Amino acid sequence: MDLKTNYMGLELKNPLVVSASPLSMDVDNLRAFEAHGASAVVLRSLYEVQITGEMEGKLDQEDMYFWYPEAAEHVRKISKGQILRPYLSYVEKAKNEVSIPVIASINCYRSGSWVAFAREIEEAGADALELNVSTHLPDSETADARDIERAIRKVVEDVKKQVSIPVSVKIGPYFTSIIAMARELEQAGADSLVIFNRYYRPDIDIEQLEVTSENYLSAPGELSQSLRWVGVLSQHVRCDLAANTGIHDYEAVVKQLLAGATVTQFCSVLYIQGLAYITTMLEDLKWWMKQKRFSSVGDFRGKMVDDRLNSAQFEQVHFVRKNVRMFD
Ligand SMILES: Cc1cc2nc3c(=O)[nH]c(=O)nc-3n(C[C@H](O)[C@H](O)[C@H](O)COP(=O)(O)O)c2cc1C
Repeated sequence: MDLKTNYMGLELKNPLVVSASPLSMDVDNLRAFEAHGASAVVLRSLYEVQITGEMEGKLDQEDMYFWYPEAAEHVRKISKGQILRPYLSYVEKAKNEVSIPVIASINCYRSGSWVAFAREIEEAGADALELNVSTHLPDSETADARDIERAIRKVVEDVKKQVSIPVSVKIGPYFTSIIAMARELEQAGADSLVIFNRYYRPDIDIEQLEVTSENYLSAPGELSQSLRWVGVLSQHVRCDLAANTGIHDYEAVVKQLLAGATVTQFCSVLYIQGLAYITTMLEDLKWWMKQKRFSSVGDFRGKMVDDRLNSAQFEQVHFVRKNVRMFD
């Protein structure tokens, strides 16, 4: 059974990649990911403001808290200059500990002096760099969509000038024209698009009358949004696609590959099921391929977008009569 996958020029042993989260910031976990069969790992992100703050010795912490509440723990350490050097050391350590590719990550949305740090990440040994450009949810009444899109494009262009390792771009689904944005990012040099980042999702505790942030893991039902757009984008861009959000079992992996994903990325399932679940997903994937008589991932990748009738369904946004027969 040939599960080998070329992702942005990296030779992966299969299409199961661990996505960015604190899980990847522990070398024991990295060893476990590899032992259980993961083909690559994305490290937890540094934030653009952390890099600028530490490089330039200034940081507006109020601003940081406002935009990135989930980074509060990091912010506390910034004033002591404890972020960038340890991150680089961790990349080096990760490379020494595991032989699977290690992908570093930066959360960012506008270019600036921080992009020079991308080169240091490459020099530390990272095999690739993932830019999560979806961290900033524009909420200003005057923010112009085109300006924001141009700013994101510029981040990618500027980072690509700094590094020779492949660069993936992790986006969110909130673009009026996702296809146009994806093509623009590809033109800017993105070697892969990660579809999609999962946003921090506030909830409300109606007993305590408090806004809460407990809802940080995805559920399997969240797969459909990225599945649709992997299916659509695989017909419009040539760069690789990493499917992300809601991948909790081999079936989700298979669906994303059938829709045209190059690799799948996941982390919530590992929080819920434990790291050994990677082996289960991998074994189940092999079992499914055997049942279907596929001997390599290439035999079925994108199979659901080969056919016009099937591929058109990814773009369908309303029920048509044939889909709602049960109500007749
Ligand atoms: C606790 C936690 C921390 C995360 N930290 C990061 C991060 O640092 N950078 C990033 O790009 N994504 C981060 N993510 C998002 C995940 O990489 C992933 O995109 C998202 O959880 C959707 O995948 P899933 O459905 O498998 O969870 C984090 C997710 C969780 C649950």
